[in-house]
Amino acid sequence: MSAISLHAKPSADYDQKVAAAQSLLREAGELYQPLTQASSLGVEDMVITHLLHSLGVKSEVFVLQTGKLHAQTLDLLGTVQRQYGSQRAIRIYEPDAKAAQTFEATNGKDAMYQSIALRKQCCDIRKMQPLAQALEGKRAWITGLRKEQSDARAAIHAIEDSSEKIKINALHDWTLGDVWHYVKSHNVPYNPLHDQFYPSIGCEPCTRAVTLGEDFRSGRWWWENEAAKECGLHVTA
Ligand code: ADX
Ligand code: SF4
Repeated sequence: MSAISLHAKPSADYDQKVAAAQSLLREAGELYQPLTQASSLGVEDMVITHLLHSLGVKSEVFVLQTGKLHAQTLDLLGTVQRQYGSQRAIRIYEPDAKAAQTFEATNGKDAMYQSIALRKQCCDIRKMQPLAQALEGKRAWITGLRKEQSDARAAIHAIEDSSEKIKINALHDWTLGDVWHYVKSHNVPYNPLHDQFYPSIGCEPCTRAVTLGEDFRSGRWWWENEAAKECGLHVTA
């Protein structure tokens, strides 16, 4: 069963949500340059890239290529480059090769399962340091965070400007049903892992499929408790 047939169910106010996301992205393009979109190539981010493109909003897109992404995710990156790359820069940020190698040589390939501290060190090398590079010189970044995704995310706002960089959560109030309805309506390309019960996709060693009734982020860092399950990209200390 495809993710579209399973999830595509618009909310009653779907049209208003789309209009609000469009005006937020237009406004961001006008007010917050240089602007960039953080794309994990997950379904929310694919919707946002499609919205940016269809509105002609000036924004780069960046992907943190951790070196641990699934083959399907890398294929989708190729699709994004072909589909949107002539109109906007698709930037790829990779971890420092030496730091990643040294970490693996010292702690093993399975270090992330050994302790939360080692898992966070891996995320730091493969995600946080490249994120800092991706945001260097940028005024604002767009993310695909949604309130519905976890308790920790329930309090997010459309625009957050409490830290140095302005963060735009363009789909903050969309439901999963809204996201998939948009995909269906606009034929947005998406990661085939979503059809295999991966609602949230990160690095291969740290992501697995969920079963019916399990929550959205239960397939991420599933061996850790709920409170620890953020890689740091969106932690506000
Ligand atoms: S994570 O913090 O647990 O990894 P999640 O996968 O839910 O986050 O993604 C939330 C948002 O973080 C995405 O919509 C995207 O904006 C950004 N993001 C996550 N992973 C990446 C990545 N590899 N490259 C770029 N942006 C990412
Ligand atoms: Fe490493 Fe897993 Fe974090 Fe990816 S999600 S950077 S593999 S610990």
